[in-house]
Amino acid sequence: MITTVTLNPAIDRTVVVEKFAFGEVNRVQSVREDMGGKGINVARILKSLGSQAKATGFIGHSNIGHVRSLLEQDGLDTDLIEIDAATRTNTKLIETDSRSTTDINEAGFSVDAAAISAIEAKIDALSAQSQFIVFSGSLPKGLPTDFYRQLISRVQPPCQSVLDADGILLLEGLKAAPTLIKPNIHELESALGTQLETEAAIVAACRQLIEKFGIVYVLVSMGGDGSILVSQDQALFAEPLKVDVRGTVGAGDSMLAGFVHCLSQNLGLEQALSWATACGALAVSKVGTESFSRQDVERMAAQVVLRPTR
Ligand SMILES: Nc1ncnc2c1ncn2[C@@H]1O[C@H](COP(=O)(O)OP(=O)(O)OP(=O)(O)O)[C@@H](O)[C@H]1O
Ligand SMILES: [Mg+2]
Repeated sequence: MITTVTLNPAIDRTVVVEKFAFGEVNRVQSVREDMGGKGINVARILKSLGSQAKATGFIGHSNIGHVRSLLEQDGLDTDLIEIDAATRTNTKLIETDSRSTTDINEAGFSVDAAAISAIEAKIDALSAQSQFIVFSGSLPKGLPTDFYRQLISRVQPPCQSVLDADGILLLEGLKAAPTLIKPNIHELESALGTQLETEAAIVAACRQLIEKFGIVYVLVSMGGDGSILVSQDQALFAEPLKVDVRGTVGAGDSMLAGFVHCLSQNLGLEQALSWATACGALAVSKVGTESFSRQDVERMAAQVVLRPTR
């Protein structure tokens, strides 16, 4: 089983307009709501790839009925801790004319000491049943910036941990030596406080993190420029697949799901990177967090071009 952790979940409301006019009345082409939050997105994709996935984390009690109905659409297996507040709604405004996405994210609920103890106990229990625990996304108010570090430290082998977080959460989380991190290039640059202009510089930066913190794999995603996977003794560049980009929502989450799915099945790094690339490309070719099938991934993964880099 693969567990995903979403501490600051959100209902994703995707609003599509042809051309947005600021300060005027805008007519909506379509609107849809999906249960979001990075870990929940990862769990949804893992499930469609055939992995057994469980989503844990916090959820708001006041609008739980609506949240449950969204979760049921996906048939997700969940083990969530209820907080005495509402789950926030994040709005993604997609303009079809410019193909741009504008995010309007609410801050969401805050958590207290009881909720912290509850998630700690949950991680202890799920670590004993999972091959991987994937921690992704921002933290709600009330949690310290080293909270991912604290939770990752609770994960006991043979269970392995994965971290997809930004800024101080990533910097602190690294200290607990997660098996895999998936920064995008901007997150990696800001974590290191330096610009990475060449492939060689990116690989060297990843190796630095591997040496210093005991990370096993660093997967650096670069949007439409592809991705680079670095381990202690291997570095691979994955060319991006050419797709018609309809929305960039969830590309990173999909990529991570594809990669972890393959790792959990011991399919090797090349297949993992190919599937990750296929999942990222499929995500951007869909609107919002619309799902895709395992057959789509297999078909696209066969077209991915990898090459060694250093
Ligand atoms: N325009 C694109 N064309 C083809 N593939 C893409 C495109 N954008 C993203 N991808 C694929 O998805 C992967 C992840 O994308 P990206 O680097 O944007 O993730 P991210 O910044 O972590 O996204 P997220 O907002 O979901 O956290 C890329 O490495 C690539 O394989
Ligand atoms: Mg990301």
